[in-house]
Amino acid sequence: MKIYSSYDPFAWIYNRYWGNSFLPFVLPVLDNLVLTKLPKNARILDLCCGTGQLAQQLKILGYRITGIDGSSEMINYAHDNAPGVEFLQADARSFQLPQKYHAVVSVFDSLNHIISTRELSLVFHSAYAALRSGGLFMFDLNTEAGYIYEWNGDFSIIEDDHVCVMRNAYNQKTRIADFDATIFRLIDDSWYRHDVVLYQKCHASAAVKSALKSAEFTDIETYGFDWQSGMRGLDKDAGRAFFLCRKP
Ligand SMILES: C[S@@+](CC[C@H](N)C(=O)[O-])C[C@H]1O[C@@H](n2cnc3c(N)ncnc32)[C@H](O)[C@@H]1O
Repeated sequence: MKIYSSYDPFAWIYNRYWGNSFLPFVLPVLDNLVLTKLPKNARILDLCCGTGQLAQQLKILGYRITGIDGSSEMINYAHDNAPGVEFLQADARSFQLPQKYHAVVSVFDSLNHIISTRELSLVFHSAYAALRSGGLFMFDLNTEAGYIYEWNGDFSIIEDDHVCVMRNAYNQKTRIADFDATIFRLIDDSWYRHDVVLYQKCHASAAVKSALKSAEFTDIETYGFDWQSGMRGLDKDAGRAFFLCRKP
């Protein structure tokens, strides 16, 4: 299977504008659902770690972190943002690691980038294999409400040396969301253009739970989340769902 690398041309702009943006929201959730249940210097795998800002925060808290991402460019920024942390380029659907972890976490829509339930199952099997017995697996997914309310429209960043025009659209029939970005960047007096297209899948909660059960995870819990209120019940209006489960 080809390693997922669609973020390569988007990595520098992600690092600059999004790399830190979810941290103040996700750290309290992680603390509540996962960190309080781990030993002090637990090993945590940050699956689809992006540009490494979460890994750095977890390292500061004393955890031993490994980050995996498919994009070599995202990993390059991760090395800068979290020096000394182990980062590996690998695909979430097929990774295998020699080490076993107390927890695997994957946040900020990362697993929405896995487009089919069959491939999501491959991720779950790989995460299961990476965990110690009793280990926790936690991840978030954008929900249908999240896509309908937040993935609809154009926005742009305009600076002297870069311009990025972005468009989000969600198709309720296919449950596929797409994010298109056109980036112009000034380097040594020349403008360079990159076009990026990223796809996300709106996975139904029932299908996710069923795939987790098939991978032999137990104690599956779900929580809702939105930007205004943070953690909340997982009702039809919650824009994001957190899933927490355990390897027996
Ligand atoms: C929205 S970013 C989130 C990054 C990071 N978790 C954060 O909180 O900032 C999604 C990340 O998932 C990675 N990704 C998506 N699909 C992947 C796959 N199949 N294997 C490995 N990485 C993947 C992308 O390269 C990207 O870095």
